[in-house]
Amino acid sequence: MSVNMLVLVSGNGSNLQALIDAEKTGRFSAGRANNYSPGGRIAAVVSDRPGVYALQRARSAGIPALTEEPDRGLPKTERRGELSFRILRIAREYQAGLVILAGFLSILQGEILREYEGRIINLHPALLPKYGGPGMYGSRVHETVLAAGEKESGCTIHLVDEGTDTGPVLLQRKILVHPGDTAESLAERIHREEHIAIVEAVVLMIFKLKEKEN
Ligand code: GRF
Repeated sequence: MSVNMLVLVSGNGSNLQALIDAEKTGRFSAGRANNYSPGGRIAAVVSDRPGVYALQRARSAGIPALTEEPDRGLPKTERRGELSFRILRIAREYQAGLVILAGFLSILQGEILREYEGRIINLHPALLPKYGGPGMYGSRVHETVLAAGEKESGCTIHLVDEGTDTGPVLLQRKILVHPGDTAESLAERIHREEHIAIVEAVVLMIFKLKEKEN
């Protein structure tokens, strides 16, 4: 049976677009990725921020697009867990087999991590285990890479566990840091690699999930 995918986003959604385009061109079709692939489809998209462009991308592609904001009335300690539980309910409702964090800024916690262990992937714009962890997102990542004088950077797709950016690495794509690079120029080149990496990682995950089934 085809793998239903739930994609979580917070912003522009260019990585979501890469997934939508890949699905359209048959990259996730049964038997296309490899002989044993059951195929995959984006079942729904959830944003933790209202009005972001990613939601529009989903709707234009005919994919259900939902917004689930963190409840700021709750104490911080409960906020993540409560949002995670709402997302878990949506994942169940859409019978998601794979949850993809494609530029999703909230941190998942609790039951969803256990129920979906090995089936949640995250995209990070650096070569983990370096330059990850709490607060390491957006331009801060690239600024830190530049300040450290790194010769290369890139992106990582990893499985999500209880930590922040700590789960097992599925794949990485590297780029060279050029003299004169800024956080913006670095982010832009890494972004292009992310669009390839996220599709490759999903193809790989669809295959792995099928293997597990057998
Ligand atoms: C990506 O750079 C990703 O690594 C980071 O957020 C960005 C999302 O970009 N976590 P987009 O919304 O997919 O365009």
